Amino acid sequence: MGFEQELEQRIRENGQNETLQVAARSFMRESIAAKYSYNFSWLGRPIIQYPQDIVVIQQLIWGIQPDLIIETGIAHGGSIIFSASILELVSACGGREGEVIGIDIDIRPHNRQAIETHPMSKRISMIEGSSISAEVIAEVRKRAAGKKRVMVCLDSNHTHAHVLAELEAYGVLTSVGSYCLVFDTVIEDMPSELSFDRPWGPGDNPKTALKLWLESHPEFAIDKDIGNKLLITVAPDGFLKRIV
Ligand SMILES: C[S@@+](CC[C@H](N)C(=O)[O-])C[C@H]1O[C@@H](n2cnc3c(N)ncnc32)[C@H](O)[C@@H]1O
Repeated sequence: MGFEQELEQRIRENGQNETLQVAARSFMRESIAAKYSYNFSWLGRPIIQYPQDIVVIQQLIWGIQPDLIIETGIAHGGSIIFSASILELVSACGGREGEVIGIDIDIRPHNRQAIETHPMSKRISMIEGSSISAEVIAEVRKRAAGKKRVMVCLDSNHTHAHVLAELEAYGVLTSVGSYCLVFDTVIEDMPSELSFDRPWGPGDNPKTALKLWLESHPEFAIDKDIGNKLLITVAPDGFLKRIV
């Protein structure tokens, strides 16, 4: 059996391995309680992601070579710096040129300054405002017009209503063969106390939003292989591939 076939078979087997699934769910529960996602940085900026997800997003960016990555939720800038840095490597290796648009309702001055002075800033632009405001949506759509390979990452407010509005606004900009990543779908699978004092929780979160949205968007499919490969992820069922 070739390497690729072995890989596919192992991922399928991992996905059916009940012991591994239970261990992964237990790790997710305990690590969310311990606020593990805040432990990391990328090229000097705090990134609020799990390392496992970061590796898979790298695989997607390398494979898709997007012209544009639209990201909602900038925080300290780690995830937009990460995306820009992989785009930089794609370019350095002879691939396509890409840029990142980051959107956040509140870009703190020290975060803005650190992002704007970072070596990766040449591939980044930021928009301050709510990701679901008409002005912000119009601006992003204007900048996305004419882009051939668009990838989308939704990681801002995690309520059902907000993510549904983001999927309507930005999900549809995802190009065929590319992905819309919906973060923090794991909220649906965790006990409500792990949502702390947030306005989201089980029954009202990114997973409930994407399940509803997919009912009227058959051009997208959940990439189950990515879920089976990761097992440890904040985005179970959150890797949406545009198939047509
Ligand atoms: C989880 S953090 C983003 C983490 C970042 N993607 C990373 O990986 O490091 C969520 C961010 O969403 C922002 N946010 C909350 N509500 C928003 C809204 N309505 N529109 C845009 N951004 C929003 C917050 O200000 C916060 O910075």
